[in-house]
Amino acid sequence: MLRSGGLVAFPTETVYGLGADASNDAAVARVFSVKGRPTDHPLIVHLADAEQLDDWAADVSPTAHLLADAFWPGPLTLLVERSSSVSLAVTGGRSTVGLRVPDHTVALELLRAFGGGIAAPSANRFGRVSPTTAAHVVADLGDDVDLVLDGGACRVGVESTIVDLTGELPVVLRAGGISVDRLEEVLGHVVEVHVSAEPSESGARAPGMLEAHYAPEARIILSSEHDVINAVNDALAAATGRVGLLAPTVLVGLSEDVVELEPAGTADDYAAVLYSRLRQADRLGLSVLICVPPPNVGVGLAVNDRLRRAAASSR
Ligand code: TXA
Ligand code: MG
Repeated sequence: MLRSGGLVAFPTETVYGLGADASNDAAVARVFSVKGRPTDHPLIVHLADAEQLDDWAADVSPTAHLLADAFWPGPLTLLVERSSSVSLAVTGGRSTVGLRVPDHTVALELLRAFGGGIAAPSANRFGRVSPTTAAHVVADLGDDVDLVLDGGACRVGVESTIVDLTGELPVVLRAGGISVDRLEEVLGHVVEVHVSAEPSESGARAPGMLEAHYAPEARIILSSEHDVINAVNDALAAATGRVGLLAPTVLVGLSEDVVELEPAGTADDYAAVLYSRLRQADRLGLSVLICVPPPNVGVGLAVNDRLRRAAASSR
């Protein structure tokens, strides 16, 4: 399917990807049109192993090799200068390319059997919640995708961490499955994190990190555990529809009128279930979902980031 220019959705440890042959410009163009995504938002190229780094990137730095060796296969995307053979259709016209080796048996077997790089964004329509099951992909993309490989629910549940290696020092442009702490451990120094939609002083920013991303239909309101009883009561008084709650644990003292989604657990567990809970809120027809985020450490950083964006875009 990939060799004939088709689109194949496949599971990774983070979220499902909508894959196309990275060397086929027509197939890559179809990814953009199916997603409804602006063509200047570059796609990540997925590779079978770290040895392919030198085929896809130019002048690979020791830092790039260090991070690839430490974290691949895994939820880390490296932004590096593209090698001249990488199509500008994939990179959105940029001189850089995002590369990663996913940590999922199905994805790796697909990559090995195919042999080339697979360009893949998350397999959702532009601006919507990323899919973490094959059923999510089918619900979002229907017949617009030629084949969906079902690998079950994604283990990590939030997208890869994106590290920009094209400047003097590494900069995290998207919080994700690899925590900043683990990056700092391997690099041996503090790493700048710049995940806002605004460009940093150096101009670094991941296009596509729009505040309007990751939003379900339900309006998202963030609350600390401490304030949650008031937040629930205020929402019940103000809302025209049903009010739901997503929290790490079961909370006591809440109004019986609130629809409690199954608790999301630790930061890692929360990441794994976040996107399916947001979709569940829509299936239940909730008009408001109050979210108590997990602690803002480790993968919790990515969960807090996605919840903040979802809340900002549904205000
Ligand atoms: O976990 C993931 O990374 C998933 C799975 C499928 O691998 N993929 C994913 O892709 O989240 P996508 O396209 O939804 O998000 C990739 C982000 C976008 O914000 C894109 O703009 C940015 O990475 N990106 C990719 N290549 C880039 C480049 N050369 N320069 C700047 N940003 C880049
Ligand atoms: Mg995406």
